[in-house]
Amino acid sequence: MLVLGIETSCDETGVALYDGKNKKIIFECLFSQADKHSLYGGVVPELAARDHTNKFLPLLKKGLNDSNINLKDIDVIAYTKGPGLRGPLMVGAAFAKSLGFALDKPVIPVHHMEAHLLMAKFDAPELCYPFLTLLVSGGHTILAKVEQSGVYKILGQTIDDAVGEAFDKTAKLLGLKYPGGPEIEKMSVRGKNTKDKLPRPILNSNDYNFSFSGLKTAVLYKVNELKKEGELSNQLISNICLEFQNAAIDCLLHKTNKALIDFDLKQVVLSGGVAANKELRRRFSKDLHQGCSAIYPDFSHCTDNGTMIAFTGYEKINLPNEDNKISVNPKWSLEEVDNG
Ligand code: KG4
Ligand code: ZN
Repeated sequence: MLVLGIETSCDETGVALYDGKNKKIIFECLFSQADKHSLYGGVVPELAARDHTNKFLPLLKKGLNDSNINLKDIDVIAYTKGPGLRGPLMVGAAFAKSLGFALDKPVIPVHHMEAHLLMAKFDAPELCYPFLTLLVSGGHTILAKVEQSGVYKILGQTIDDAVGEAFDKTAKLLGLKYPGGPEIEKMSVRGKNTKDKLPRPILNSNDYNFSFSGLKTAVLYKVNELKKEGELSNQLISNICLEFQNAAIDCLLHKTNKALIDFDLKQVVLSGGVAANKELRRRFSKDLHQGCSAIYPDFSHCTDNGTMIAFTGYEKINLPNEDNKISVNPKWSLEEVDNG
């Protein structure tokens, strides 16, 4: 059973083929538009959509050629229906529906954040329900209880910026390139702990929500203050990166521990681009509530990719075939995923 996965929700064009019966990835092709958007300091949706239209077919052709697979051998097509940027999503949906129509094969809509989460099951199959999940990406910061396969209860989420967005915006105001997460991580390695602390917004609120816009604004004030004394040295930037990263991780860890305790859960699955952060992983293995463990997808499967869509498509193989209408759901909630 060969499932083609198509991911175009933001600025990565991901195309992958997954053999569900043999649990094997046949090919995974990815094109990141990061360099293009770096010029603007963030993703420009119209440019992202245009680039998906240019990159999709060459990527699919390369994957098929390299693995000696014929287009007609594909059994099912899975695509990201949402959440994400409307224009980029429409491109993936149009390719998926057109392929499905031409090949007379079923087409399965996939929830992008559920796919991030399920990728942990792909890379670490020992998960036991119920468990907690912390989904941390450029568009979302969600703490949810996974009751059973496909049944999610959102416990908390960001009330303003997503944590990845805060990494990206903070990097931009420090003069680092897009995407900011990996840049801040790199700079922070040389950072020193100083007395200059940043806030940990709503750390002690009696809920499971997050807030990151105040943290980013605190960095802005700090940068403006320091710039009065001249350009920021690399050491100063590194120190700010370290403190920003620590503050963000403190917030994520604190609310995760609160949820693990309050709901008596033993496992937390972290996924989404920010889960690729090594310091976050180190802190979650060191400071997680006693007796609890954190599970992640491989580093390469934390950020957007086509494999997570193909794998989730296979998990949802029994859903009824979608009609030929090309439609997307940019604000699709995790609690509304379809389980058939
Ligand atoms: O999941 P993802 O690839 O796309 C979305 O669904 O949004 O996540 C992208 C986000 C970006 O904000 C990026 O800066 C952040 O993940 N990110 C990281 C790291 N790698 C990617 N943040 C912190 N540390 C990283 N190593
Ligand atoms: Zn994502």
